[in-house]
Amino acid sequence: MSDAAVTSTDILIELLPQKAKPKAGKLFINGEFVDSLSGKTFATHNPATGDLLANIAEAGAADVDLAVRAARTAFEDGSPWRKMSPRDRARILWKLGELIRTNLEEIAELETLDTGKPIFESAKFDIPQAADCFEYYAGWPTKITGDTIPTTQGGDALVYTLREPIGVCGQIIPWNFPLQMLAWKVAPALACGNTIVLKPAEQTPLTALRFAELTVEAGLPPGVFNVVTGFGPTTGAAMVEHPGIDKIAFTGSVEVGKEIMRVASKTLKRVSLELGGKSPNIVLADADLETAAKYALGGIFFNQGEMCTAGSRIFIEERGYDEFMSVLRGRAAKMVAGDPLHPKTRLGALISEEHLNRVLSYVSIGKQEGATVATGGERIGTKGYFMKPAVLEGVTNSMRVAQEEIFGPVASVIKFADVEEAVREANNSQFGLAAAIWTRDIKKAHQIAKRVKAGTVWINTISTTDNGVPFGGYKSSGFGRELGKAAIDLYTETKTVWVDLNG
Ligand code: NAI
Ligand code: MG
Repeated sequence: MSDAAVTSTDILIELLPQKAKPKAGKLFINGEFVDSLSGKTFATHNPATGDLLANIAEAGAADVDLAVRAARTAFEDGSPWRKMSPRDRARILWKLGELIRTNLEEIAELETLDTGKPIFESAKFDIPQAADCFEYYAGWPTKITGDTIPTTQGGDALVYTLREPIGVCGQIIPWNFPLQMLAWKVAPALACGNTIVLKPAEQTPLTALRFAELTVEAGLPPGVFNVVTGFGPTTGAAMVEHPGIDKIAFTGSVEVGKEIMRVASKTLKRVSLELGGKSPNIVLADADLETAAKYALGGIFFNQGEMCTAGSRIFIEERGYDEFMSVLRGRAAKMVAGDPLHPKTRLGALISEEHLNRVLSYVSIGKQEGATVATGGERIGTKGYFMKPAVLEGVTNSMRVAQEEIFGPVASVIKFADVEEAVREANNSQFGLAAAIWTRDIKKAHQIAKRVKAGTVWINTISTTDNGVPFGGYKSSGFGRELGKAAIDLYTETKTVWVDLNG
């Protein structure tokens, strides 16, 4: 978790020799980089400066169609990918992890330039974890097995199941953890033998395109992995509409998730959705309050709060309120944003001016609703999209700042009287992605963990994930579980084979 930052925008300008050189982006179809058929491009910017980083090819429906055809051909019987042994598939996955590590510094810089997140996060968390994810799934191709099942119908029979790849997977990912979200989707899909058409977010296409180069180096056959860059309502929608795509895996907003389900129903695509949250971080008075407060900061302010699991509703028991809040307020007030490329920066820029303004508007909404701003909540400077992290106190769970996903560095602090109230209010939300509980009472911790409706419940920690541990949401936070063995279920069909053994 990030500790308080020690840098400020004033003292840091361009101080690192840059390894990463963003270049014009093309589409990656059938193992080759190509322009879009229309020749159209769009710009990706550096959120820390607002400067243009590169122009990127914009895929239209016809380009998506070419990518789907390439992925379909690569999937069919007899293709090099389908003929490849699980062991060789495993080797390619491992190689991809290795190549990410070999190029870590460059890829981390690209990620930081494109997202505005601190290089500390890109280089120490996001990119290494993306590499880990490929290495983790490199272990799976040789271990995906079916069952043999005893039957009582029709006399003697041998019944077994096969786990088969689903086919062409369309994967649509967001801008907050670009390469990590790619890894969470691409690694298990490849482990199971699928082929892929991936659309990175329009704000952050650079690392997906760099990864595409690595797939060539790793020896992935052409057409197995394709990248179509472009916007949601055009490129993304063309994928969801396309009858040649068998499954859509999506991470992003609830609104778009609903739209994807609606459109995908026309072709009965398999759908899995990861849609963010408003995660409760429940702190009981008997917890180690200083540690809880430090981690609460990381829980909400890591990655500028642009995090689906952000512990954005901090529930604190009345009896512990003053002690907890004095640490939280003090440390939050000391957090300053800095140049994302500086290694000491712990708080970078938000993804865009539009998003920054949306996040800031929630601070005003909170005030109008009767909350008080304990610290932060203002834009810093006019260049780049920086803001001071905000702590809102006096929040009640029915306020908009407690119910709506802000997706920025805004913590809503809510007091509670007892565990019953905490559990009731924590569950009083359309979301259910994650929750955290802080207490020294182990029994109470497990009792609350059972009652909180969330895909992940952390006890005395927050926001940790692991490639082996299933991740996903209850309620409007989506469905399907990524990572671990759960993602193998997400990317395979089960086939039953029934063999009559009578006579
Ligand atoms: P978004 O849901 O619009 O974008 C996510 C991805 O979906 C992008 O690749 C986008 O191009 C694509 N997309 C958009 N419309 C589409 C459509 N009709 N069909 C197919 N693909 C489509 O999210 P956006 O606008 O970037 O952020 C808005 C809010 O969504 C954030 O403030 C946050 O609350 C939430 N969000 C949640 C994320 C999470 O990790 N669960 C990640 C990003 C955003
Ligand atoms: Mg960008």
